[in-house]
Amino acid sequence: MMKWKRIVSAAVCVCMAGMLITGCGSKSDSSSKKRIIRVALSQSEEHPEYKGMETFKKYVEEKLGDKYEVQLYPNELLGGQTKAIELTQTGAIDFTIAGTPNLEIFADVYEVFSMPYLFTSEDAYFAAMNDTDYMNKIYASTEDTGLQVVTWYNVGTRNFYAKKAINTPDDLKGLKMRVQQSPASIKMCNAFGAAASPMSFGEVYTAIQQGVIDGAENNELALTDNKHGEVAKYYSYTMHQMIPDVLIANYKLLNDMSEEDREVFEEAARLSTETELKDWETDVETAKKTAEEDMGVQFIYPDISLFKDKVKNVQKEMLEDNPNIKDLYEHIQKYNKQYEGEGK
Ligand code: GCU
Repeated sequence: MMKWKRIVSAAVCVCMAGMLITGCGSKSDSSSKKRIIRVALSQSEEHPEYKGMETFKKYVEEKLGDKYEVQLYPNELLGGQTKAIELTQTGAIDFTIAGTPNLEIFADVYEVFSMPYLFTSEDAYFAAMNDTDYMNKIYASTEDTGLQVVTWYNVGTRNFYAKKAINTPDDLKGLKMRVQQSPASIKMCNAFGAAASPMSFGEVYTAIQQGVIDGAENNELALTDNKHGEVAKYYSYTMHQMIPDVLIANYKLLNDMSEEDREVFEEAARLSTETELKDWETDVETAKKTAEEDMGVQFIYPDISLFKDKVKNVQKEMLEDNPNIKDLYEHIQKYNKQYEGEGK
């Protein structure tokens, strides 16, 4: 069943991408003269990000419905995140949501989020990401590549999950674990003693099922929404990263808009984040319950200090290798300090 779903969605994806490239189903609908705004998501219609984008669509169409129609394409229908970013860069897609590791090759400041144990509390993470004045400077760093980040989404903490239980870092030794396609993610995973296997999110289910990899690392929704809990039965709270997803726009689209239109899109983006954040925690609780009760996934709460110890030099090494992350890193440390001892 799963396999067919994948084959069908791969076929749809090739078709859709082809249509975008050839200009079939072209952007301005000649009958209404509305500009079609295409948004690509890798997540499903059930995911809080999709709900966030429904808010985005509603707001844009309420304010500027005579000019724009927003179309949402979930489930990697327009390709995995790397592909979707490329299509956003060329303007074939207008917006896409992706994890920051995918942006590292466009602006290496984003490497900072791939550092293990970067944020020392969830409060520090939220405060840093909600510091819009500062983050806007970071979001502008991909401008010269044709991409403009407009907002962020919380996608929780990342934890390892596999076909076998991971109780200590020793259990990771030699395991082939999928990571996101970025140099810093590979470094992080190898530092834990596992063998990093970068691939796109959509390939993970089959790769675990077929034994190409032993597991992966992600938030709890991957178990249910993406069905990874069917093939990996042990989810271990190593809590090694809080990596945001971001909404990426085609730079030219935003820049060529009138000031008023741009403000509407920016407000729509802000509201989409509000919706997404609101749903996140309850969705995680539901996912945990479903994974445990219906899928037989076992949740493990290991001694995190052992895992921290294993990667204790990685932050320092990354700072030495990439001076461009220093400012953002230090900015985050201010928030870590502010919530020290009291942050959840
Ligand atoms: C998270 C994130 C996705 C990303 C995925 C991944 O689920 O929300 O945007 O694709 O991790 O590991 O690739």
